[in-house]
Order: sequence, then structure tokens, then C-alpha cells
Amino acid sequence: MIRQRKNRILVIDDNQDIHDDIIKILSPSSNTSALDALVKDISGYSTSRSESPDIQIDSALQGDEGVEMVRKAKLDGNPYALAFVDIRIPPGLDGVQTIKQLQQADECLQYVIITAYSDYSWENINTELSPQDNLLILKKPFEIIEIRQAASTLLEKWHLAHERNEAIEELIHSKKIETIGIMANGIAHDFNNLLMGIQGNIELAALDLSEEHRAYESLERAVEIIQTTKKLTKKFLVFSDFNNPHKQATSIRDMIIYAKNHELSESNVSCEFSPPDNLWLVDVDSYQMSNALLEVFSNAREAMLDGGKIVVDTENVDEIRVGQAGEKKEKYVRISIRDQGCGIQKKDLANIYDPYYSTKPRGVKKGMGLGLALVAAIVAKHDGTVRIDSVPGEGTTVTVELPASDKQLPE
Ligand SMILES: Nc1ncnc2c1ncn2[C@@H]1O[C@H](COP(=O)(O)OP(=O)(O)OP(=O)(O)O)[C@@H](O)[C@H]1O
Ligand SMILES: [Mg+2]
Repeated sequence: MIRQRKNRILVIDDNQDIHDDIIKILSPSSNTSALDALVKDISGYSTSRSESPDIQIDSALQGDEGVEMVRKAKLDGNPYALAFVDIRIPPGLDGVQTIKQLQQADECLQYVIITAYSDYSWENINTELSPQDNLLILKKPFEIIEIRQAASTLLEKWHLAHERNEAIEELIHSKKIETIGIMANGIAHDFNNLLMGIQGNIELAALDLSEEHRAYESLERAVEIIQTTKKLTKKFLVFSDFNNPHKQATSIRDMIIYAKNHELSESNVSCEFSPPDNLWLVDVDSYQMSNALLEVFSNAREAMLDGGKIVVDTENVDEIRVGQAGEKKEKYVRISIRDQGCGIQKKDLANIYDPYYSTKPRGVKKGMGLGLALVAAIVAKHDGTVRIDSVPGEGTTVTVELPASDKQLPE
């Protein structure tokens, strides 16, 4: 299921007049039909989104200000699609340096470089910036039609790239989860039975010993370790099809409160959470979903060893989603859990859902690398989606979306 994304555009220019011009040219109220007609003229077909272009245009007067806005938008899970960047933005970074930093902050962003000078030749820009398939160069003074054409083409390209990436990611996730589920179920059941056998025999052996016997303490410790191992096998069972969710229409609010209290009560991490009164119900297995939330909170806490704050936002979302069968109106509840921790390095992002992938010190209680695999499996079983946006050194946002229940709150 692919989300309809907003068209967020950022203009980075030290000249306020350019901002005003671009806002005027691209503002949806003034040119919706012009943009539609243009795309139709050029390509011969209507764009899928141009009927209701949802455009938001923001401004930055300096390169570093723009880079910060792009970083924050990515972290908030509401990224920019397109940036118009002037090649000269004194006194700070110039346009090419700005784009280099923007590429680090958000690799999907598309660019229009605006230039009136020959500070950089096309060859220079070509060698300085890579890859170049996401940028267009416009010479000042530009024509209205050039701005509209560049915006329309690059926005469409950004949407298509996102849809393709999301579809591929979803396919890989669901395949991985299915395979893991089958394996985990078999192993967890057999393992649990064997553990029960071992525990039973140890307890029987302990019955024949007095508490003073020097083997007694060792037997007690063995039983403790078995208990911890049984908790671990329980995690595996959640992956498996055997443990299908027992869904009931529930408010996610109480599960979030339980998870935050449980994970944060004895820590130096605070939490801000004020859910709206009218939050829709979701059909969830409370036990499983609470476990998923516990894993997300524990990751956030572990990412802020020196303390910090977690901000939880919940909202009802009613929007159009594009799937294989076309567009469909959908209602769902979005939960975003945002921390101020160490963030996730780009090289790790592709693997964080993999079982046993962890960047933490390894141990039975810490850093097994099972938390997010569990979250992904549980959310998938509830027909939901999970997305993680992170900026290293600044923090991480985990966004879970769950279909809203048809059922009303009990009186
Ligand atoms: N909020 C976060 N901030 C920073 N890194 C994170 C965050 N959430 C997940 N990660 C990264 O993703 C990796 C995988 O997370 P996951 O929860 O699956 O495993 P873990 O926390 O390492 O171990 P376990 O959850 O089994 O105790 C982590 O090791 C960490 O590198
Ligand atoms: Mg974890």
C-alpha cells in the first residue's frame, strides 16, 4: 500500500523577490489548471496527482538554513520533494555546496539550480554533484513556463521513485517476515518443550538436595537462565503464524501509556504525549501491539543514554492511498514516536529490521537485534505499516500506521 505524499517544495535563495515569484508561479490556487494543461501538452497524458496538487512552498534565505529544514522535514517523516537552489547565496554556502549537504540529508530530494552567473560551468556542476539525474539547471531570467515544467516533472519523478522504493521495501519485508515466521515457529515450539523438560528435571534434582548443598545454588541459577530463555522463545512465537493476533477494537492510547511507563519509569528519559480526545479505535491484539510499542520505547531509551525526551504524536488520518487496484480512500491512526538520541547511520538503515541485526553490545537481555524485527512482524499482521526516519546525531522517528476500526468506542 503506497501513501499519497505531499508536494513539499523549498526555495533557497538570498533574494526575497525570487521566493515571491516562485510561490506565485507554483501556488496551487493560481495555476492548478495551467500545470495540468502543461503536463498534458508535453506528455500527452494527465498526471495522477495534478487534479488536486497539494503543494506547500517554504523559504530559506541561506544554504545552511535550507539544509536544516530538509533534515528536520526528513526526520518528521514529511520530507521535501523539490528544492529550488540559487547558485549564489552569500555570505554562507554557495548553491553547489548547499546541494552537496542536501544530498547527505535526503538522498531522494530533486533540485532545480537557478543561476545567472558563470561561477560554475555545467561541467563543473557535473563533477561536483553526483548523481545528476535529479537536477535541472535554469538560467535567470527564467520563464514562468520553465519553472512550472521543472516543478511538474521533478515532482512526478520524486513520487514515482518513492512509490517504487516503498513497493520494493514492502515486498522484501513481507517475504523476509514470512520465511522467518515459519522457521521461528518450529524452533520456538521445539525449544520451549525441551526447556520445560530441562527445567522439570533440574527442579526434581533440587528437591533431593538441601538448600545448604553446594550444588543447590547452581541449580537455582540454571532455572533462572531457563526462565530468561523462555522469554526469548516467546519473542520467536510472535513471529509465527501459529500465534495469530486476537484482534479487538481498542484505543492505542492506553497501550502507549503502558509502554512508556514500563520502559521509562526508572530512566532519565521523559515523554511528552497528549493524544487527541477523538482518536479512532484500531483493531489490534493488545498483547502483541503493547510488545511492539515496548520495543520501540526501549530502542529510544537506549539511544539516549545521557537522557532526553521522547515525543509521541497520534493522529487520525483520512486520505487517498494508491495501490495496485488504483486509488482508495483509507482511514488509519498514525503513531509517531520521536527521540533525540544518537540516530541511525545510513549504512545501518537497510538492515535494522533484520533479526539479529544490532549495533549494541550483545547479550541475552540487550542487543539481540530482535526488537524491530518483532515490531515489523506485529504491525504487518495488523495490516499496518512501519517507517523509520533518522538523522545521525539528532534522533529517530518511528511512525506506525494502523487501519482504523469500523467499531465505535463502547458507551
Ligand atoms: N531509536 C533508535 N535510535 C537509534 N538506533 C536505533 C533506534 N531504533 C533502532 N535502532 C538501531 O536498530 C538496531 C536494531 O534494533 P532492534 O530493536 O531490532 O535491536 P536491538 O535494540 O539492538 O536489540 P533488542 O531489541 O533485541 O534488544 C539497533 O541495534 C540500533 O542500531
Ligand atoms: Mg531493540
